[in-house]
Amino acid sequence: MKTISRLALGLSMACLLPLTTHAGEVEVLHWWTSGGEKRAADTLQKLLEEKGHVWKDFAVAGGGGEAAMTVLKTRAVSGNPPAAAQIKGPNIQEWGQLGLLADLTAVANQGQWDKLLPEQLAEVVKYDGHYVAVPLNIHRVNWLWINPTVFAKVGLQPPTTLDELFSAADKLKAAGYIAIAHGGQPWQDGTLFENLVLAILGPEGYHKAFVEQDPATLTSAKMAEAFATLRKLRSYIDADAAGRDWNAATGLLIDGKAGMQIMGDWAKSEWTAAGKVAGKDYQCVVFPGTQGRFIYNMDSLVMFKLSNEANRQAQDDLARTVLEPKFQEFFNQNKGSIPVRLDQDMSSFDSCAQKSMQDFKQAASNGGLEPSLAHDMAASSYVQGAVFDVVTNFFNSPDMPPEKAAEQLAAAIKAVQ
Ligand code: BGC
Repeated sequence: MKTISRLALGLSMACLLPLTTHAGEVEVLHWWTSGGEKRAADTLQKLLEEKGHVWKDFAVAGGGGEAAMTVLKTRAVSGNPPAAAQIKGPNIQEWGQLGLLADLTAVANQGQWDKLLPEQLAEVVKYDGHYVAVPLNIHRVNWLWINPTVFAKVGLQPPTTLDELFSAADKLKAAGYIAIAHGGQPWQDGTLFENLVLAILGPEGYHKAFVEQDPATLTSAKMAEAFATLRKLRSYIDADAAGRDWNAATGLLIDGKAGMQIMGDWAKSEWTAAGKVAGKDYQCVVFPGTQGRFIYNMDSLVMFKLSNEANRQAQDDLARTVLEPKFQEFFNQNKGSIPVRLDQDMSSFDSCAQKSMQDFKQAASNGGLEPSLAHDMAASSYVQGAVFDVVTNFFNSPDMPPEKAAEQLAAAIKAVQ
């Protein structure tokens, strides 16, 4: 009798333990390795550790995440994926088809995620109708960053059209500054290109080109114009850009060596980490010609199926933590993005984040949200890779006619469809 009751007590304790005291471990794969990004990632680690769990950092350096995805595939193929990985957009569906992802329905129902998240974006983190990932934020890609001290020295106003952008760039170059701070990686070239496509082809053209991948749009005269404009932009980038990381390019702006950078608002994380203030030390301007439109990039953590119960509990806690207002505030203020919870109080956010939230809500209400191709939101990784190959090749081939690049774009996409 005694033995049985001890056993029963032991069993009931064992059932309780994972929910109450067992610390689990979550291994999180991400590529937040710049100074500013790391500060943001640290906020998640801290909040998870406060819940009694162990954070196993799996950071793979490389902006845009290409290197991280390669490492993740190797781990998944060997049957040992991490608990969570930064996977975004349509790629989530590809991972879902492999049957490796955890079902977050219980956590999502408990936290009423369907009510918290913008509908269009909630679909992105579901597979087969179930949540398999938790979204962290919304980044805006169509931003132009400006160093106002440099602009004032040259007597410039923030540009609102592409013509004004080039005229400002001419003056910056003539005054001895790097007009446009840029790095040398395919995803950075892709980021410039998608901004130009939105400005030149307009929202319908952008959608037809990158989401529908319509051959007529891909080979159109406007697409050739986007390539020609990309070549023009390149002439304002310094000769040392090859291989440079995006955050080093932001550093050139922060140090007053360059006047402008075209980059998503993770660039703001570097300004924040350097103690600089939005609207005073730097300015965020909607990329000329794309006002009223919002190219979005949503970071999300996909959860993999786990067999260890304590680790599974820790994984659920990670998912819960991400959508807590406290995390949304700390993380996004450091990351440069805006909260993915649209009910978040924005009063403690800076002027760029406030503008971004306002523009996001407005764009969401009138069909103005465009998914970023360069940041995994518009198409599969195969289509994205095909676009990067053509764009970077054109970027580095001064004699290639823009019309030929447009033809190559359509052909490269067709080949991977
Ligand atoms: C990610 C951001 C990241 C940036 C630079 C983007 O694709 O969404 O979280 O900061 O790449 O690495």
